[in-house]
Amino acid sequence: MSHPDAVIEVADVEHTYKGNTKALAGVDLTIGRGEFVAIIGKNGSGKTTLAKHFNGLLRPTNSGGAVRLHTGDGRTIDTRGSRLHHLAATVGYVFQNPDRQIFHDTCREELQFGPRNLGADPAALVHQVSETLELVGLEGRAEVNPIHLSRGERQRLAIASTLVMGCDVVVVDEPTTGQDRAESRKILDSLAHHHAQGRTVVIISHDMALVAEYATRVIAMRQGHVLADGTPAEVFSQREVLQETNIRPPQAAVLAAEIGLPGALTVDQAVRSMRDALLPAGSRTTVSQIGEVE
Ligand SMILES: Nc1ncnc2c1ncn2[C@@H]1O[C@H](COP(=O)(O)OP(=O)(O)O)[C@@H](O)[C@H]1O
Ligand SMILES: [Mg+2]
Repeated sequence: MSHPDAVIEVADVEHTYKGNTKALAGVDLTIGRGEFVAIIGKNGSGKTTLAKHFNGLLRPTNSGGAVRLHTGDGRTIDTRGSRLHHLAATVGYVFQNPDRQIFHDTCREELQFGPRNLGADPAALVHQVSETLELVGLEGRAEVNPIHLSRGERQRLAIASTLVMGCDVVVVDEPTTGQDRAESRKILDSLAHHHAQGRTVVIISHDMALVAEYATRVIAMRQGHVLADGTPAEVFSQREVLQETNIRPPQAAVLAAEIGLPGALTVDQAVRSMRDALLPAGSRTTVSQIGEVE
């Protein structure tokens, strides 16, 4: 894919952990401003290791590897030579376990912490905090202690505390793992809303139905390499390639392809293709009349 407006550039990156596990074996990719990227692949394929390179939590272990960030104001930052807090202002990272990053006694304090550290005016933060809590569906919870939130709500709080920083890019490691359908949707809807405001979103996910629905680009990893990279339609149509990494395309896509209607990735799209193929115009029920089928 070509990216005239690159925000993250990963060039020949290898990462070998102490103990000699080569988690990344030479990765090249560019993430463009405004993309919604999903990184997929089985456990141990290097997804988290790659994502942690995006904001300098990890650095390439080979001398030729480099990760460069292109900021909104036209600067290029090499993660190797930069302090973490400078990088974190451009790329926010939400850990897989939200409890790793929740430390305060109220949701409000949790959200204020990062911007205050960057010198934000506390008066200006009041509005920003309420707006961000609303964005993640935690409106009215500003004074609640995070220990009283559900796991999914804490995940959304951790996301909010990153979003409130106003980073160009937000990277979220497995935001929906262990969450039920409704909670997963709330989480991804928050990220989609942030994306719609022109930001770049990167998620790691095992939920192919949600990936197909929300992502504009899919990067499939296997054994420290990029196995496939393209739009969801491009990547999920490479079924033999995906089999190598035990990824099954979304069930709706498999079903639609099996009955001769390729191209549909989500339940809504599959229903629409089937309806168009089977029913005469005029007798068609709309997807919203049927409701969500999952
Ligand atoms: N801190 C670490 N120390 C040593 N090995 C690690 C560490 N973190 C991950 N690994 C190894 O690196 C490989 C890639 O891991 P990871 O990036 O976490 O994969 P994924 O996120 O796709 O599950 C695995 O073999 C894993 O065991
Ligand atoms: Mg991981």
